[in-house]
Amino acid sequence: MVIDTIQRQMFYRVSNNIDEDLKIKGRFIVFEGLDGAGTTTQTALLANWLDANGMDVIPTKEPTDGLWGGIIRGILKGEVDAHPLSLCHAFMADRIDHIQKLQSRVLKLDSPVVLSDRYHLSYLAYQQKDTNKDLSWLYVTQQGLPLPDITVFLDASPYTCYERMKRSRITSERFENIEALERIYEGYISAIDLLIREGQNIKVVDGSLSINEIHEKTLSLLSDYFNK
Ligand code: TYD
Repeated sequence: MVIDTIQRQMFYRVSNNIDEDLKIKGRFIVFEGLDGAGTTTQTALLANWLDANGMDVIPTKEPTDGLWGGIIRGILKGEVDAHPLSLCHAFMADRIDHIQKLQSRVLKLDSPVVLSDRYHLSYLAYQQKDTNKDLSWLYVTQQGLPLPDITVFLDASPYTCYERMKRSRITSERFENIEALERIYEGYISAIDLLIREGQNIKVVDGSLSINEIHEKTLSLLSDYFNK
């Protein structure tokens, strides 16, 4: 209980300062989904498409390749032991540094599209599962952060993602079993529900489709936004 209060106060203090200095002055789109849903592939495809269509694009991702991102990957691979709340703080620290670095990159271009492979929705889904905190607790810790204009959620089932991961690669041992994926998926659904109620723009794309079909669906969902 005491730890909970301290954590909350710490986050409040961080959050209260965030909106003053951290903003992204460009267009901001995020891909989200379970491990294996295809966020990295779709981020790369959309980045190439935007570039080929003459738009300035800044592809990026979380966890980042910075200091905190390195620490996070060590924890996720099980190389470093860390309490779930400490991992939660690491994601927060990584996100703050991420936005700060993006700011200077954005200012060098004329209204670029920042395209991120994961952002705060991952945090609301994965850290919900990992810390057992209420969604509202986690949501408060994110207040003051720049919001994406659009988040595209690649809706692939835990089973589909698990099978894809088994076939293709090794990522986070912490989140890489079917029970964990099921809980994270539930976390995504509740977080999406909350963010939509809070007025955020979240598009859902059927993540069981082929890579090209998902790309085409994404383009048609985003066409109005790019034609503005
Ligand atoms: P992943 O997309 O697999 O990154 P990479 O391939 O570069 O290592 O992301 C790593 C994991 O981090 C993934 O399982 C989702 C998780 N994650 C969180 O738990 N919280 C967050 O806030 C973010 C951004 C990611």
